[in-house]
Amino acid sequence: MLKAAAILFCGTLGGVILNAAEVPSFYREILPILAQRCQSCHRPGDVGPMPLVTYTEVRPWAAAIREAVRLRKMPPWFADPAHGKFSNDPRLPDAEVALIDQWVSAGAPEGKRPKQVPGPPPKDSWQLSPDMVISMPRPFVIPAKAVIEYQHVVLPLTFTYDRWVRGVEIRPSDRTVVHHAVLYVRPPSSKWLRDPNGPKTTTDDILAVYVPGSGAQVFPEGMAKKIPRAPTSSSSCTTPASLAPTPRTRPRSAS
Ligand code: HEC
Repeated sequence: MLKAAAILFCGTLGGVILNAAEVPSFYREILPILAQRCQSCHRPGDVGPMPLVTYTEVRPWAAAIREAVRLRKMPPWFADPAHGKFSNDPRLPDAEVALIDQWVSAGAPEGKRPKQVPGPPPKDSWQLSPDMVISMPRPFVIPAKAVIEYQHVVLPLTFTYDRWVRGVEIRPSDRTVVHHAVLYVRPPSSKWLRDPNGPKTTTDDILAVYVPGSGAQVFPEGMAKKIPRAPTSSSSCTTPASLAPTPRTRPRSAS
């Protein structure tokens, strides 16, 4: 029984086994949990309201962190358990909640600072090594105070042959203000957003979705999605993207 518990700990914490009397250390047990489960949003320039990267940043939030993970408020996850288990469920396993709980109960100590402390993942890096980068034609400026409707942006593509896409990553230039984005493939036959009286909604295929904290989407081995080529060289294939911005207190641009 004891052995099984130790093996579980090895699995979740990369080899760290705690004695009952030992207090979890910020750098050894807590920071790896934050890095894996929280910093994709709680890092400078990202959607989380405060960075959770250094001890100084984390310490004032210790009690709130315990509360948020105990109640499973953080990481945010709204899937209804009535529909089964999800492989990308980001919530903390009980063992990690217990470690945070013990750490906070012990006064959230810093412990011994190692020589090298890992920083957050760099803010502006691609997770994929893209073969092609498509940018919005112009930035969308978000007013400080306003109700903003869905924004539809058409990204013109001029493929002369059908392309099969294995992975897609949507990267808002300012992640603090983009609520989510949906990237559709509009085939040449679709009338969506082609003229002002055309259809306002679509059943065109969705290529990828961005929500805060989501990473690149890579399709399973052997699978890809098709972006059809433009039918003639004079017209171009277009990929509309829908953007739902979150207004903040100061104007920002999102693209
Ligand atoms: C997908 C992005 C995302 C991830 C991952 C995430 N957070 Fe958050 N977190 C947010 C956002 C956005 C808010 C602000 C929520 C609001 O204003 O309603 C927030 C708020 C908080 C707060 C403030 C108090 C509260 O409960 O509202 C705490 C504490 C917190 N997060 C801790 C964590 C911890 C600890 C983790 C990892 C275990 C984590 N978060 C993971 C996005 C995230």
